[in-house]
Amino acid sequence: MTFNADLAHQIAHEDSPRDKARYFEGRAHEITQFHYGLAASEDRDQAVFRIYQGAPGCGKTSLAAHLAETTQDVVFVKLSDRHLTDFTAMMERIKNAAAQQDGRYAVTAMHWTAAAIERLAGRALAEELQRAAQDHSTDGLRFVLHIDEAHSLGGNALDVLKELHVGGLGEADQVPCVVVLTGLGHTKEQINRHPGLTRAGDSATVNMTAMAERECVDSTWRMLAELNPDGDPSQVWRPLANLAAEAAFGWPRHLLSAQKAICETLLEAHGNALALDHNEINARCAELRAEYYEERMKDVVAPGGDSELAKRIIAQLPKRAVRDSDWQLDEFCERQVRRFWPSDRPLPDIEKTRESLKGNGIVERKDGVWALSIPSMANWAAQQLQGVR
Ligand SMILES: Nc1ncnc2c1ncn2[C@@H]1O[C@H](COP(=O)(O)OP(=O)(O)O)[C@@H](O)[C@H]1O
Ligand SMILES: [Mg+2]
Repeated sequence: MTFNADLAHQIAHEDSPRDKARYFEGRAHEITQFHYGLAASEDRDQAVFRIYQGAPGCGKTSLAAHLAETTQDVVFVKLSDRHLTDFTAMMERIKNAAAQQDGRYAVTAMHWTAAAIERLAGRALAEELQRAAQDHSTDGLRFVLHIDEAHSLGGNALDVLKELHVGGLGEADQVPCVVVLTGLGHTKEQINRHPGLTRAGDSATVNMTAMAERECVDSTWRMLAELNPDGDPSQVWRPLANLAAEAAFGWPRHLLSAQKAICETLLEAHGNALALDHNEINARCAELRAEYYEERMKDVVAPGGDSELAKRIIAQLPKRAVRDSDWQLDEFCERQVRRFWPSDRPLPDIEKTRESLKGNGIVERKDGVWALSIPSMANWAAQQLQGVR
């Protein structure tokens, strides 16, 4: 076997993000929570909610794709805001999605939703549908509805969620249904604001954080095993897998960057892992991490338009235990700004900064205090302020 340069090329130059992580690892707690939800849905008329929330790049989309791929015999349908204008529109989408699937229950799901749509419209079932209902028992039929970017659902979509929360997917003929909601760290808060959803996701919300170092190593090891670069696995691959884990700080999006960096350098070295310069890979990882942070900062409203001040806030936040109310975060931000703000000028609007830090998944509430969603961002901000990259 020789070095798989094609694969290295794909990983290194993949621009558009994939739903599914190539080398998915870990997330045992998240997966267990999902399966509890699936079991609970069996004897409930209402839909069971599972909320997975966390900053961009913590692995929400990958988790959902993993669940879709590994859960046998469920009809898994992705929904977005535009499918949720009302309940019937959602059912239409589920029907169409089921029609394109080839799982064991896809046909049953299609007939069942078609019949439900007729009933919602107050129409009698056509003979064909009646016959289909007789031929296809709904025993064993289960739905999982996945809604990504759930922190920004509009009012109509939240109304539909409320219907699922209160009454489930069917009317007289219920089928088990789990609603998986993924979004930024304030997803649950946002959903609970909607009347009728104030308790949705209670005890069923998972805050997604870093992966374990071991999992980052294992993920990279699997990549190396497929790439098969020259060099002894235990002597040469092992240190590379460790390097990726260190450069990732447990953050899935950084892990992807580290794996890309390894592929880039392997391609340059024609697959000879012995010839790699680890310092060079580390530098490339830092560069990719910085790009990601810059991207995250793009939508943050910096105090008075001064991005350095935003970085000061980020660099300092983990050093203080700032209690997790809005006004305490405002006060903290204001204190940072005041240190560098000319005393003869009125202080800039802090509220907008606070809201954008929350809304873009830079800060989140963790154990009663405000924390950075991606802890390693503080180091980056501090280095930026010192002019080091
Ligand atoms: N469990 C995981 N194991 C390995 N890599 C992962 C895992 N979760 C995410 N990743 C990597 O991190 C990248 C970003 O994850 P993604 O699911 O897109 O994050 P989010 O949806 O939270 O923004 C993925 O493209 C994938 O390469
Ligand atoms: Mg995502």
